[in-house]
Amino acid sequence: MKKAFVIGHPIRHSRSPLIHGTWIAQHGLAASYEAIEVTPEALPGFIDRVRGGEFVGGNVTIPHKEAVFALCDEVDPLARTIAAVNTLVAGARGLRGFNTDYMGFLGNLDQARPGWSEGLARAIVLGAGGAARAILVALRERGVGQIVLLNRTPEKAAELAAEIGGPVVAGGLADYARHAGGAGLVVNTTSIGMHGSRFETLDLGLLPSKALVTDIVYVPLVTPLLAEARARGLATVDGLGMLLHQAVPGFEAWFGIRPQVTPELRRAVEATL
Ligand code: ATR
Repeated sequence: MKKAFVIGHPIRHSRSPLIHGTWIAQHGLAASYEAIEVTPEALPGFIDRVRGGEFVGGNVTIPHKEAVFALCDEVDPLARTIAAVNTLVAGARGLRGFNTDYMGFLGNLDQARPGWSEGLARAIVLGAGGAARAILVALRERGVGQIVLLNRTPEKAAELAAEIGGPVVAGGLADYARHAGGAGLVVNTTSIGMHGSRFETLDLGLLPSKALVTDIVYVPLVTPLLAEARARGLATVDGLGMLLHQAVPGFEAWFGIRPQVTPELRRAVEATL
């Protein structure tokens, strides 16, 4: 039986076992996918077990994404740019690390708003943490004209913009008003929105009427940012799809079948939020 895992600390709230378990059952595979609590101290020992052939691979979540990056035998170039690994594939070539968050971001928007990136002249990305890295790489890959990276701590945005390069320019949250007019996309990558917290200073009324607003926070599904965007008649995409779509490449690498993100799967996960 092929075994896969998700490791994290804490891990018990992870929805990944539900997602992969649904696909395993759907395809009638002799496979398992289990959530395993692994502390930072126990991480090297666990990685040795994976190297020993106990698992075909698995997912990696908070707080291990950077540590696992350093423990891989081979890291995919995009995961190297993002500087974090969320998917491990074990095999004859040793332990290979990937980052599927950027594909999750793109897969979600592609499914919800086909054509969203065509001719996109400017995107505003809020936040400069780990999640922002994957999204900046994704937007850069799609050829977005200008990516405006805004963060509460502008120095962090400037550092990240210099690292990612290309069309990324940096600023503080106060610079939003100056850039909003030409922005076709706004992405929240910060934790603001969880438990109802909100940005106090962003005026969504400054965005073009065709702008799309998306959030990576999915608890609640409709964050205050998305609710306000909807109330203003702007298009929105919630963050749950990113979670579902980031799971696709891992499942395909471990089990050889590319699974579908269906409305039924989405409803099953939504029911647990
Ligand atoms: P992750 O890896 O999930 O992206 P992170 O690396 O801790 O998490 O990054 C969190 C991001 O949310 C940062 O951009 C942070 O801004 P700072 O760099 O200024 O800390 C942003 N953030 C968190 N809480 C915030 C708040 N109350 N207001 C504005 N930005 C906030």
